[in-house]
Amino acid sequence: MSQVEACLAVIHQAAKGFVPQVGMVLGSGLGPFADQVDALVSISFDDLPGFPQAGVGGHAGRLVLGHVGGTRVAVLQGRAHYYEHGQADVMAVAIQTFKAMGCEALVLTNAAGSMVEEAGPGSVMLLTDHINMTGVSPLFGAQGNTRFVDMTQAYHHGMNDAMRSAARANHVTLHEGVYAWMCGPHFETPAEIRALKILGAQAVGMSTVPEVILARHQGLPLCALSIVTNYAAGMSPTPLSHEQTIEYAALATHAVESLLNAFLQGYETPA
Ligand code: HPA
Repeated sequence: MSQVEACLAVIHQAAKGFVPQVGMVLGSGLGPFADQVDALVSISFDDLPGFPQAGVGGHAGRLVLGHVGGTRVAVLQGRAHYYEHGQADVMAVAIQTFKAMGCEALVLTNAAGSMVEEAGPGSVMLLTDHINMTGVSPLFGAQGNTRFVDMTQAYHHGMNDAMRSAARANHVTLHEGVYAWMCGPHFETPAEIRALKILGAQAVGMSTVPEVILARHQGLPLCALSIVTNYAAGMSPTPLSHEQTIEYAALATHAVESLLNAFLQGYETPA
């Protein structure tokens, strides 16, 4: 039995007949959104073979199944990162399990540094594209022609429009930008940030992109939100730290939660 099949068996045992529509990944500081789920069950990653051993502060490490705004969701409270063990495919089983459970779309979230003055700490950014600065892929070792994933429209236009509408309706200022994936766990240098700006990125972080690639490999449409926790290196006198990330993520929690609630309330299967 594959790890994905083993996970499905655990999930079916816990929530028989439950087929989620939307899979979600909650990044640093966003874990509390899981409390908004009208939950059927919550399963520890420890009981799901191949799911990440979430080890970073702000990550709880459980899969919550239930409803938000009438939409059936499967929510990962916590994720794993490339920088933990140097494995880009650390989220592969989790993303494949979303697909195997029947999810038809994903919403990914993260904490990020901002490279634009307008989007300061506490703001929310819709990702429209990304730049993979790590030189690695979670699909290293994958077989067959499907590994040559088209990334042209990785961030689904229809889902992005739905997120924009949800933001407008709820008076949430939604910035937009391109996310640069850096390997971490160290933060960037000011020179790296200047380079990323020239390359056309507006946000920088250490996650999400491998999940985007894995999801597109599974044919799952997706959208992604960054919570801006800080100005990127060299843009502000405040030293960068993970404590700051967690603290400032809380500033945007309310806006992101109302945005996600509204998005899920108005959710329609992506065309
Ligand atoms: N850089 C990389 N990752 C991050 C940052 C940052 O400035 N802020 C939150 N995650």
